[in-house]
Amino acid sequence: EQFFAIKSSLAEKKVLINGGPTYEYIDPVRFIGNHSSGDTAVYLAWEAHNRGAEVTLVLGPTKYKNENFPFAVKHVTSAREMLDECLQLSVNANVVICSAAVADYRPKVTYDQKIKKSDQNLVIELEKNPDILAILGQSKREQQLLIGFALETENQFENARKKLLDKNADAIVLNSPSQTTGFSTPTNQVTVIFRDGTTAASQLVLKEKLASWLWDTFINTLHL
Ligand code: CTP
Ligand code: CA
Repeated sequence: EQFFAIKSSLAEKKVLINGGPTYEYIDPVRFIGNHSSGDTAVYLAWEAHNRGAEVTLVLGPTKYKNENFPFAVKHVTSAREMLDECLQLSVNANVVICSAAVADYRPKVTYDQKIKKSDQNLVIELEKNPDILAILGQSKREQQLLIGFALETENQFENARKKLLDKNADAIVLNSPSQTTGFSTPTNQVTVIFRDGTTAASQLVLKEKLASWLWDTFINTLHL
């Protein structure tokens, strides 16, 4: 006797996912960024595609630049570019997942030429980037599901729950950076927090497998 795992379907669903870092340019050769791999977003996109969804992935600068995917991919660089794409694409989306590690700040000025070093200290003023998840939360339609991520190092549940409520998301995926979890590791362990206060904790698994677990969890709990 053979057993087949029946995966919950996403047929007919339009799914928008953002992922990767954003780069905020200081001058033509320097930027503020982070080490987000984009892997989780790519695996979530693959998994949604395999379950029958129409997927669009908005991806910051990652190793996936020249990859051919069987779903739509928009490559962006900065937080503001990511916001523009996500705002346009979210209009038609049934499910939006914001997994990008968006830079919270960008240089107030981007220099046209490479900054020359001098004998003085260099001060770069930073201004706040738009919060993509919060903005999508404000324009969220009835029936649309919005899912965020939260990376926390202290008061993890309280902080993640506050983000969930402040940004008007339906669920938030709590991530904790460690040797085996977080940014640029092949494995991850997460806890999904829902608006009613219930939680679902994953095992420590490869990110491919986590994507499948996450979709099962979203579909079953949010009645997708
Ligand atoms: N996020 C976003 N736009 C930003 C910052 C964050 O869309 N400018 C989203 C992330 O994609 C994630 C969620 O908000 O889904 C939480 O990101 P996180 O960095 O954990 O929280 P912040 O609200 O930025 O707060 P802080 O970094 O101070 O903890
Ligand atoms: Ca942040």
